[in-house]
Amino acid sequence: MKAGVIGYPISHSKSPTIHQYWMDQYNINGNYHHIEIKPKDLEIKIKDIIYQGYNGFNVTAPHKENIFKLCDEVDAAAKKIGAVNTVVIKDQKLYGTNTDSFGFIENLKSSQDIDFKKKKPFILGAGGAARAILYGLLQEGVEEILLTNRTIDRAENLQKLDPNKIKVIPWEEKETYLNKINLLVNTTSLGTKNQQSLEINLDNLTSNSLVSDIVYNPLMTDLLSQAKDRHHSIVTGIGMLLHQARPAFKAWTGVMPEVTKDLEQKVLL
Ligand code: ATR
Repeated sequence: MKAGVIGYPISHSKSPTIHQYWMDQYNINGNYHHIEIKPKDLEIKIKDIIYQGYNGFNVTAPHKENIFKLCDEVDAAAKKIGAVNTVVIKDQKLYGTNTDSFGFIENLKSSQDIDFKKKKPFILGAGGAARAILYGLLQEGVEEILLTNRTIDRAENLQKLDPNKIKVIPWEEKETYLNKINLLVNTTSLGTKNQQSLEINLDNLTSNSLVSDIVYNPLMTDLLSQAKDRHHSIVTGIGMLLHQARPAFKAWTGVMPEVTKDLEQKVLL
């Protein structure tokens, strides 16, 4: 396997650790590394990657939208999510997909037996991650999703994914809706190390609610520790990162890799 992750900056990306781990586990020879590409060099560097015989690459900020127009084909998930995070190269052609929704859904499924048709999710945030998560939940057949964001226009824009099923709630009123839901997901960057924490009082949250955070640095965010103290089931954010990498590895090698505690610990180091 010859692959990498493109972005700018890129040295922070954990993807090489994940793919190297799986290459070792499954005895696959190859190389997966950071590829720093400045926005202005994207097209020329991609040509170089094709020329060098890569099987494909992952895509992170700021290229997730711009890589779109360089792809020969993009699948339905990437189109709906409006971003490509994984590219497969075959016969010098680029095939783009987005595995973030798979990562989110698989992470929840791997943590517990979950019937999405019975879930009433409440999504906090309306950035790129929220878009992928909304798409994933809709694909799983969720009936209704509540959505809120500090900047309400962005939530209203995401509502267009399915205006009948997605209801936009004012950010200031989020706590009053916690008794109407049973899955709470933070997709904002609030709670990340050295940033503000997410201020939310969970008093009103339905007792059987599952609480999930996409922030994984720290793994136990204030939101998750508050939820845990109240005996809610929680799902940490690292799993989404690990699970989204699986379909890429499968596409490049033919092997669908597994997420293990050992891998999680290596990535968190
Ligand atoms: P990503 O693509 O990772 O989702 P993003 O597009 O930058 O990243 O989105 C970050 C999310 O965190 C947004 O929902 C953002 O809210 P705004 O759209 O109002 O900016 C949210 N966020 C970041 N800082 C925040 C803060 N201090 N208070 C509330 N929400 C915040």
